[in-house]
Amino acid sequence: MQVLSVASEVYPLVKTGGLADVAGALPLALKGHGVSVKTLVPGYPAVMRMIEDATVRMMFENLLGARARVLEAQHEGLDLLVLDSPTFFDRPGGPYADATGKDHFDNWRRFAALSKAGAIIAQGGMAQEGTAWRPDIVHVHDWQAAMVPAYMRYAAEPEVPTLITIHNIAFQGQFGADIFPYLELPPHALGIDGVEYFGGVGYLKAGLQTSWAISTVSPSYAEEILTPEFGMGLEGLLAHRADDLAGIVNGIDANIWNPATDPVVRSNYTASTLKARAENKQAVAGRFHLVQDAGPLFCVISRLTWQKGMDLLAETLDELVELGGRLAVLGSGDRALENAFHAAAARHPGRVALLSTYDEPLSHLMQAGADAIIIPSRFEPCGLTQLYGLRYGCVPVVARTGGLNDTVIDASHAAITARTATGISFGPVTTGNLRRALRRAVRLYHEPKVWTAMQKQGMKSDVSWEKSAGLYAELYKNLLVRKGSRP
Ligand code: ADP
Ligand code: GLC
Repeated sequence: MQVLSVASEVYPLVKTGGLADVAGALPLALKGHGVSVKTLVPGYPAVMRMIEDATVRMMFENLLGARARVLEAQHEGLDLLVLDSPTFFDRPGGPYADATGKDHFDNWRRFAALSKAGAIIAQGGMAQEGTAWRPDIVHVHDWQAAMVPAYMRYAAEPEVPTLITIHNIAFQGQFGADIFPYLELPPHALGIDGVEYFGGVGYLKAGLQTSWAISTVSPSYAEEILTPEFGMGLEGLLAHRADDLAGIVNGIDANIWNPATDPVVRSNYTASTLKARAENKQAVAGRFHLVQDAGPLFCVISRLTWQKGMDLLAETLDELVELGGRLAVLGSGDRALENAFHAAAARHPGRVALLSTYDEPLSHLMQAGADAIIIPSRFEPCGLTQLYGLRYGCVPVVARTGGLNDTVIDASHAAITARTATGISFGPVTTGNLRRALRRAVRLYHEPKVWTAMQKQGMKSDVSWEKSAGLYAELYKNLLVRKGSRP
């Protein structure tokens, strides 16, 4: 089976968050299920630098106002289709924002262009250029690619089944109706059953409306987004499409994330050589200029945002330090939150520290050395850092929501007795409950037998893509069966 995947970021070419990890790892895992994936990504400078031996597959004289080419290239096991359009993608800053953090002014056009190119490829565009390639299924991710199924729906070509995966419903790609004339869609597409959303154009809404099927990245989040609290305005549409909505939990690339072989980790280890983590713990403390002592070392590897509950954590730091804990934070985001962590670091020198950079190797070392990773998210579609934590024996302390709820087994009395506990979870997400969870974590840390059992159990959890890739393959197959009777 051939699948066209469309995503705005793909590890290891370009990454701002978990979407890249998923878009980079799922194609590799699907190979074992007889599915081969080509991934369409924008040709940002970082992507253009990394691809070699690219072949030109398509040329657009005018793709929503700019010249563009589709290049095909292979990179570390991934089959890539790169949308090379300097007008849209060759510019400083990140994939979505400029160097000052302001969204690129033409994101609506950049990602509509990505989506339109995806739709044209999906409907045999590359075949017209002499290369016979047509996908059986189109799988798009998040709002940046969500217009692919919309473009496909309004084209005259034969339909190819589509699946849209929601990684985060908080980002919806909403724009004013004034952009509509430039999208090159037929006038009737600006309707309630098309791309129209609250009087404007909603990209994610359009994708949810026109895609054959919808998935999100954990079973719990699939239920949560049907409610007003989590659906962010789209709960009604999703409820309407509930029969076409699935929740499939993310996996991780167990080769890249393997404490036994990880090249950036100071001292490699397995579940039976956990003592070797001590050297990594020292190294993490050293990198963050924290004191070396026998108490628990907590870490955070995260965007510093409201979603991630970082304001709640900042409020608990005095107590965490009083309990003998230390905290190393790697992440950046909201200025006010960065300031709150800097202030805590100033109050507690050597015990709390923030590095507000993006550092992939350091994130590996932290998982390999910290005792626990704190993830107090208000909502979390899946979350990957708790999965890396489980794999690395870095005990997750998590909010009981979304994918965190589906992947961490709380150290309740029953779970400790049955030796099934893999972490600590708390809910509802309040400062008080987080405080209690941290207290519980420190107490359990001082019961080495229980703590080690938890680490080992976590390391035994199946966090690989194997099972979930199988579920995606099954979903694709079901869509193929439905072909000819689209929703
Ligand atoms: P989200 O996609 O919502 O940000 P996830 O937990 O799914 O959350 O994925 C976040 C990914 O980004 C993980 O791979 C995590 O390790 C990584 N990450 C987040 N912040 C940093 C950082 N400052 N440095 C390195 N990696 C980071
Ligand atoms: C989003 C979500 C996160 C999820 C990731 C990958 O960024 O916030 O929970 O793990 O996508 O699916």
